[in-house]
Amino acid sequence: MNTDQALLKPITLAGGLELKNRVWMAPMTRSRADNPSNKPFDIHEKYYAQRASSGLIITEGSQVSKQAVGYINTPGIYSDVQVEGWKGVTKAVHEKGGHIFIQLWHVGRISHPDFHNGDLPLAPSAINPHEKSFTPEGFKETVTPKEMSRAEIKQTIQDFKNAGKNAMEAGFDGIEIHSSNGYLLHQFFNATSNTRRDEYGGSIENRAKILFEIIDALKEVMPEQKIGLRLNPSLNGVFGMTADEETIPTFEYIVKKLNDYDLAYLHLSEPFTDVSEIPYLVSHIAKHFRPLYKGTLVINAGFDQEKGNKVIEDGDADAVAYGTLYISNPDLVARFEEHAELASPDKDTFYTPGEKGYTDYPTLEEIKVG
Ligand SMILES: Cc1cc2nc3c(=O)[nH]c(=O)nc-3n(C[C@H](O)[C@H](O)[C@H](O)COP(=O)(O)O)c2cc1C
Repeated sequence: MNTDQALLKPITLAGGLELKNRVWMAPMTRSRADNPSNKPFDIHEKYYAQRASSGLIITEGSQVSKQAVGYINTPGIYSDVQVEGWKGVTKAVHEKGGHIFIQLWHVGRISHPDFHNGDLPLAPSAINPHEKSFTPEGFKETVTPKEMSRAEIKQTIQDFKNAGKNAMEAGFDGIEIHSSNGYLLHQFFNATSNTRRDEYGGSIENRAKILFEIIDALKEVMPEQKIGLRLNPSLNGVFGMTADEETIPTFEYIVKKLNDYDLAYLHLSEPFTDVSEIPYLVSHIAKHFRPLYKGTLVINAGFDQEKGNKVIEDGDADAVAYGTLYISNPDLVARFEEHAELASPDKDTFYTPGEKGYTDYPTLEEIKVG
């Protein structure tokens, strides 16, 4: 293999998991679990196995409970049937020499009563994000959610723990906590979505507390070296999130405290929108947070091959997670090796059922054979 490129060099995670390169696949919801139990099945096996040359696949967000859902046809990781489905996926990826983590997801207020027999979605505080939820009847406006009781917070922590246990049983190499992109845990972190007055709100420490309680609970069912998590510190104006002066200090606190653990990795996103005019947000996330974190750091959002090699060479990240490029280039690693042309993804089939736009993107080899 050509290892001149930083992206193509192997990397070993805490705990000794050896990954063959630093071209990781970012978590992406593809809404193909269109069956009543939301279990992954053979098309998921095919899709992920096609991408097994990635150093590490991070699956689509997978709900940790029935309560955690906010979009149709997303897979779960809370029932036995779902675990059986995921076993097929992990086996298919491992047989091709790949590694795979599952992203554990709770959407919080980015949901709709239609998913919960008419009950309100749960969130840290009763504040409507004014977003859209993709329900069985199409997009609907979100509602004002129910403020979680302490008992509901404890139950949610248990749900993450149970999902982690299930992930181990399903054969995953690890899990990624989805504490990003405006979903439940991000809603706790942010002062504009969390106005609680108990021990889960108010101070930075309190707003971050649920994340550390989830990590501690997961550590009871798996080694901490199999736990990764995702943060999007400068997210603003999308997914219902409004940042403020306390936002970056909150993420700095979280990232520094993560050094108390020996985690698989920290997954950060560069800003999804231009935040250069907002004085209290950070435009260069990898650069800002790299000095604060001692473990493996993977960076995402907007990277191509050149920028990916550069961010690693500059010492600002250890690996790069590619999203949309992985939709249309199952053999992204081979294409990077050969500096080959990349295929563009078809947005119309990002979330549609079936194989179209999912498992039918050809590899370079397949194109050559014709
Ligand atoms: C179709 C689609 C689905 C996504 N679903 C998820 C998800 O389930 N979990 C998550 O953390 N991010 C999700 N994202 C965000 C991606 O992981 C990634 O941050 C984004 O695509 C930017 O990276 P890119 O520029 O390499 O595409 C999704 C993005 C896309 C395009």
